[in-house]
Amino acid sequence: MDEARTSPRPEGVRTRTEIEQERAQRDYLEAFYREGPPPWDTGVTPPELVALVEGDGALPAGRALELGFGTGTNAVYLARHGWDVVGVDLVERAVETARVKAAEAGVTPRLLHADATRLDEVDASGPFDLFFDLSCLCGIPPHRRDAYAAGLTRRAAPGALLLMFGYGPGAFDDPTAGVSAEELSTRFSGWELVDTTPGTNPVPTFWFTLRRD
Ligand SMILES: C[S@@+](CC[C@H](N)C(=O)[O-])C[C@H]1O[C@@H](n2cnc3c(N)ncnc32)[C@H](O)[C@@H]1O
Repeated sequence: MDEARTSPRPEGVRTRTEIEQERAQRDYLEAFYREGPPPWDTGVTPPELVALVEGDGALPAGRALELGFGTGTNAVYLARHGWDVVGVDLVERAVETARVKAAEAGVTPRLLHADATRLDEVDASGPFDLFFDLSCLCGIPPHRRDAYAAGLTRRAAPGALLLMFGYGPGAFDDPTAGVSAEELSTRFSGWELVDTTPGTNPVPTFWFTLRRD
């Protein structure tokens, strides 16, 4: 029998397949950063985040947690706009690059080399008013996604927002990649999915906004 189907298992116990999936994802991401700036690294803060921070009815600056900050463009942007920012990224080289970018910008977001699905292992305690995920969860292996949601839920201030960009299921050859509105509604118990806006990419993408009850 497929060992992945023999649940329930105690939290933290992983099958060999799951361990392999996590290792493969990490290796895949590390290779991108080794070879120079990865293709997603535009250096531009998306208008969806700018609207939340600077637009009509902008959020008051508070505490923000960025999941998968890459080379730090948006953590720096938030810090420049008065937010107290903590960020996590799985790839050490990304973290080093982001720290240099923040120092050059004269801001001090706390940028941690850490796994967004294992936030209890680092000093990233809440509460946070804003969570930002630009294409992180959609690449996380499915068996770690409930832990991601639980980690954010435990750290969310009442009424906190999660702004997420994700590739949809089927955007890549990998059948485990991608995220849908249905999945978020199921995994994020205690949150309301308040908006889903399709992106403009040639493959299915979405901007999701969730609010903690
Ligand atoms: C597609 S990249 C996007 C990076 C950045 N948000 C941007 O748009 O430039 C996804 C990022 O999430 C990070 N990531 C993936 N899985 C992660 C995890 N479990 N915990 C923390 N970071 C993760 C990757 O290392 C990578 O930097």
